[in-house]
Amino acid sequence: MKWHNGGIMNAPLKHLSAHTLRRAELARRMGCGVAIIPTAPEHLRNRDSDYLYRYDSYFYYLTGFPEPEALLVQIAGPTPRAILFCREKHAERELWEGFRYGPEAAQERFGVDEAYSFAELDALLPKLLADQPALFYAPGADAGWDARIIGWLNRVREQARAGIAAPTEIRDIRTLLDDMRLRKDESEIATMREAADISAGAHIRAMRATRPGGMEYEVEAELLYEFRRRGAQFPAYWPIVAGGANACVLHYRENDKLLNDGDLLLVDAGCELDGYASDVTRTWPVNGKFSTPQREIYELVLAAQDAAFKATGPGAHWNQPHEAAVQALAEGFVKLGLCEGPVERVIETEDYRRFYMHRTGHWLGLDVHDAGEYKTNGEWRTLEPGMMLTVEPGCYIRPAENVPERYWNIGVRIEDDVLVTPTGCDVITYATPKTVAEIEALVGQLPGNTIGR
Ligand code: GLY
Ligand code: MN
Ligand code: MN
Repeated sequence: MKWHNGGIMNAPLKHLSAHTLRRAELARRMGCGVAIIPTAPEHLRNRDSDYLYRYDSYFYYLTGFPEPEALLVQIAGPTPRAILFCREKHAERELWEGFRYGPEAAQERFGVDEAYSFAELDALLPKLLADQPALFYAPGADAGWDARIIGWLNRVREQARAGIAAPTEIRDIRTLLDDMRLRKDESEIATMREAADISAGAHIRAMRATRPGGMEYEVEAELLYEFRRRGAQFPAYWPIVAGGANACVLHYRENDKLLNDGDLLLVDAGCELDGYASDVTRTWPVNGKFSTPQREIYELVLAAQDAAFKATGPGAHWNQPHEAAVQALAEGFVKLGLCEGPVERVIETEDYRRFYMHRTGHWLGLDVHDAGEYKTNGEWRTLEPGMMLTVEPGCYIRPAENVPERYWNIGVRIEDDVLVTPTGCDVITYATPKTVAEIEALVGQLPGNTIGR
């Protein structure tokens, strides 16, 4: 083995074989032809400052390669080949921007069959496409790549009189990759468990730091601190830290208001670790003690989540957890006087949507709203071991004449990340406190807390 850069190159080859196995599986599903999977571009934030770089999820799923300006070519057929294009080594750019693998080291480190400079794409891609029956890529995902790929195809077509054929079939590679990404392998599950633990730690830290008179962004800072302190590279999405009525704005992200005594605080925050998202919501009282109406709504949402967990397991269809949550919520809404019974009518007329207007979950993985279809051939997909989803019922009560005033401006969501197992499901975010007693014991208990002071 040739190692060109001691420290970085000798890092443990974490999950390397998983990427090789995924490429082999992709080639098997393709049957024949060539797949082209570019990574994400860098994005300018302003003038010459970039956003922190995040690779493309499909590309990363197949390679584990973290650098921008990279592209994978996967050739299927009797002798599958994986070819990586990446940036050349560059002493001066590496001085300013940091280490680059370069094709030679990348080939060894990431276990691809061949690797070339990204600058050689236009020269080599027409050759790799020649006489291949099919091209797989993600049409429409990026206009720049669309144009470039069509250009390569046209270069092949120009050689028709020399007897060289261009692919006659163009297929959307996302159909194959989305289905693969739906079932997580062992290395993905291990990473997602780690991400879940970090997010649990962040919620605990945020609960302990919450105090009347503090600002939402002070709680946000505690979340981000814990994510990064424990090695997560990003928040998986921008945290929602919504005090009082702000919790009833589903995508609230300003996080800039005062935390008032007597209000609830809804926090939806999860980290991204090594590419994988976690997605956790908890709701707690700013002053550490649920009022009676707050507790009634909280325990109802908790019961709805429990009902959804019970409906989550292999063989259940995608919508069953949602149906179970809606049933439990509708029963509670009638009991608390928020909806007029009977329960069947509340469900049938969707009257419950006045207080519960979103769905109960989504796939979770490299993307927080992960790849994968929810229906196949018009039918809800059947859950299988290895699938990862969120279970996140809620209740959001805006002031209205026909709504009991004691519930006004209460917004509650409880969200966990769930792995489908052979026998049921495993709540991988279990370490995030959730019962009324657990929460009341924690809120405001951070020693030396300076929030709101
Ligand atoms: N945090 C995004 C979601 O819950 O779907
Ligand atoms: Mn979610
Ligand atoms: Mn969420």
